[in-house]
Amino acid sequence: MNDAELASLAKEAATHSYSPFSRVSVGAALEMSDGSIYQGCNIENTSFSLTICAERTAIFKAVSEGVKQIRRVAVWSDTGLHLFPCGACLQVLAEFIEPEGKVILVRKDGDRKVLPFKELLPHDLTDLRDHMK
Ligand code: THU
Repeated sequence: MNDAELASLAKEAATHSYSPFSRVSVGAALEMSDGSIYQGCNIENTSFSLTICAERTAIFKAVSEGVKQIRRVAVWSDTGLHLFPCGACLQVLAEFIEPEGKVILVRKDGDRKVLPFKELLPHDLTDLRDHMK
């Protein structure tokens, strides 16, 4: 699957966004290392802090189905921005993304920026996994 196709799956995922409070619709599409695809949207809550971002929805869907390794993630929002994943999502991505994994930021009009995941989160907590062994 090419970047444009993954980007359009991220946009499609945003159609399910539940975001009555921010009115920001976000969709994410993951391409896993085995080639499978998982989509997710942001899901807000009246108790605001319980909101979950589109990226984590997609990651938790994949991992809960037994598919753990992410190759690329595309994120689309209706904001007009190239919306970056939040810090919490970056740390959750760090747990599962390939070392050379890529992030595709998709603007509402379809314009794309592709960045290595490592550029967004150069330092993460995954070293702690070895320490805890
Ligand atoms: N949001 C995401 O789903 N992903 C991001 O990368 C940033 C923010 C959501 C959370 C909330 O529902 C809305 O966008 C406004 O922050």
